[in-house]
Amino acid sequence: MIETRGLTKRYGEAVVVDNVSVRIPRAGVTSIIGPNGAGKSTFLSLISRLTPPTSGAVTIDGTNIASVQGRHLAKLLSILRQDNHFSVRLTVSDLVAFGRYPYSRGHLTPEDHQQVDKALAYLGIAGLKARYVDELSGGQRQRVFLAMVLCQDTDYLLLDEPLNSLDIKHAAITMQLLRRAADELDKTIVTVLHDINFAAAHSDRVIGMKDGRIFCDGRPDDVFTTDCLSNLFEMEMSIQVWQKQTIINYFGPSRRD
Ligand SMILES: Nc1ncnc2c1ncn2[C@@H]1O[C@H](COP(=O)(O)OP(=O)(O)OP(=O)(O)O)[C@@H](O)[C@H]1O
Ligand SMILES: [Mg+2]
Repeated sequence: MIETRGLTKRYGEAVVVDNVSVRIPRAGVTSIIGPNGAGKSTFLSLISRLTPPTSGAVTIDGTNIASVQGRHLAKLLSILRQDNHFSVRLTVSDLVAFGRYPYSRGHLTPEDHQQVDKALAYLGIAGLKARYVDELSGGQRQRVFLAMVLCQDTDYLLLDEPLNSLDIKHAAITMQLLRRAADELDKTIVTVLHDINFAAAHSDRVIGMKDGRIFCDGRPDDVFTTDCLSNLFEMEMSIQVWQKQTIINYFGPSRRD
């Protein structure tokens, strides 16, 4: 279980994560939604220790992450960051193999190579294995970074906008992959999503963040109400159930109206 207690981050006068206490039990998909600047990425960075909190604490399976060795933490929790746009002159397979570093420390075993190949195949990028990462398209690169995170094979995965740049087919495949990882491998997935329809389709739980605080939190059916979503995003939306899926329409008047 991930537990945060009074988690707070300030930058100068600005409180960007404001006294957040939440428990995320093991296994399942939790989606974090909310407007730009709500504090979603900062919240994930605090949970993964990439950013130190101003106050409050994070425990994972009962251990305060502040006192965990880096190598141990990297076997427990992986994070996909929102911006992977830095240019790296590495091949796809070399970059994905970095996910194995906490285990191999640079000396890849046949099992590590197997894990790399499996992750590449899962994300449909086996054919890109020998290509340089800085010569890929945005969506191809996003899938490479996702493969690196999968390779780390941790119980907890924190994913900040994993569907960024993905075409609709690969976005759908990726969400189904995460769902399966939660159901079949008991992975605990906490993911920031801007596509609220994907969040509605695949989450066990949805946390809406606004102004650094938890604005709403519950099962998709509890959170995906017009009242809650319209207030969270400060815009009109309508919600329909179609073929057992919750569909949120936020496009505004169409050209046919
Ligand atoms: N290093 C920093 N220094 C100062 N302010 C920061 C820093 N990082 C983030 N912020 C501010 O904290 C707030 C929350 O940022 P954060 O990146 O967590 O938002 P977000 O919910 O992930 O937004 P988005 O949907 O745009 O990714 C923003 O107002 C941002 O400007
Ligand atoms: Mg963000």
